[in-house]
Amino acid sequence: MLIHSTSQLLTLSGGPQRGSQLGQLGIIPNGAVLIQNGIFMDVGNSIDLLKKYPEEPLLNAGNNLVMPGLVDPHTHLVWAGDRASEFEMRLEGKSYLDIMTSGGGIQSTVNASRSADVNSLLKQAEKRAENMFFYGTTTAEAKSGYGLEITTEIKQMEVALTLNEKGPLEIYPTFLGAHAIPKEYENKPDEYVIMVCEKMLPDIKDWWMKVSTNQSLPFVDVFCEKGAFDLSQARLILETAKGLGFPLKVHADEFVNMGGAALAAQLGAISADHLVKSSNADIKALAKSKTTAVSLPCTPFGLGENEYSPAKEMIAAGCLFALASDLNPGTAWCGNMQFTMALACRFMGLTPAQAIAASTINASAAIGQQDKIGSIEIGKQADAIILSVSDYRQLSYRFGTNLVDTIIKKGKVYKTDQLC
Ligand code: NIG
Ligand code: FE
Repeated sequence: MLIHSTSQLLTLSGGPQRGSQLGQLGIIPNGAVLIQNGIFMDVGNSIDLLKKYPEEPLLNAGNNLVMPGLVDPHTHLVWAGDRASEFEMRLEGKSYLDIMTSGGGIQSTVNASRSADVNSLLKQAEKRAENMFFYGTTTAEAKSGYGLEITTEIKQMEVALTLNEKGPLEIYPTFLGAHAIPKEYENKPDEYVIMVCEKMLPDIKDWWMKVSTNQSLPFVDVFCEKGAFDLSQARLILETAKGLGFPLKVHADEFVNMGGAALAAQLGAISADHLVKSSNADIKALAKSKTTAVSLPCTPFGLGENEYSPAKEMIAAGCLFALASDLNPGTAWCGNMQFTMALACRFMGLTPAQAIAASTINASAAIGQQDKIGSIEIGKQADAIILSVSDYRQLSYRFGTNLVDTIIKKGKVYKTDQLC
């Protein structure tokens, strides 16, 4: 199939974009792209490629923008129930951390997810996965973390794998058993940490080896935060996970700076996420490392807070900067990367081009998939979106509606008006 007559084809070619390089869109005016067997096979100008491939079935982009599918490298996709009552409590003045320490918050979603059967969990998560795809996300990461015991943690990860198999959204799972201290371990957090290290991590590895033959291990993430896991607990879990061969991620500096970002950099984590309270030293440590700095602007927005990640400082310091939605029931029930980009431009000063690069090629680096997805380059998996607008700046400028008209996932075409 030859997609042709684009207004702009954004290739995002050349690999992840560090520091001030962020925002190189690789624009081909009147661009075209050849897709065969789910892979991009040629990229160029429409006039040239139409001549070169006269037999190829055509998809006319109608002078609209075409770019790589959006990548969302931080979601908590699989959970049961909702926390609308907590939203109301927060509006009345309670803080997220207050609600969490008084038994609500994550623990309340844990209760709902433990009692949900696998089909109900699957149905609830599937709706959200469909919605993400509808808004142009073609690949996402999905965390566990609403079980805090092995059975439910595995149940969540199984749902993520099932959704990945069903498609079209491609999903990379993360084990987040260290998301909160479960109520069973209320006054003995260190015992929970030891249990995670000695029991859960090896069990997750054994389970993964049984269910998945050819994929590398899932990520292991820790919520390093006041009221969750402190720096030494986070370090122990992450070092144990690393020793078992798991790639690492860290929830760091969301509400309080506990040192999680520097720890992520030091341990060679694939990403450090949130980074609202990160210091200059943390930013420097991330900039020097291979760890992607992932910012989640839907989270402060969802909490009605005014403080966002210091994105400009991160970019100026040379970080590999990416965006993600953080889709979750507590702080940000939003899996829409178009909206995420719109927030990033308004509250963190990104340009539309930077927001696009942070949501495609750099977001793919935050899940270790930069060689497979995130750009339109020969040999890469054919994940792309055709928008209903012709200029890339319309993305982020407009918000609240869906600018995606057509989604191509692994070479297969989906029209958004037939999806929802
Ligand atoms: O990324 N911070 C920890 N995890 C989520 C919130 C999860 C929840 O409240 O259910 C986050 O914001
Ligand atoms: Fe999160």
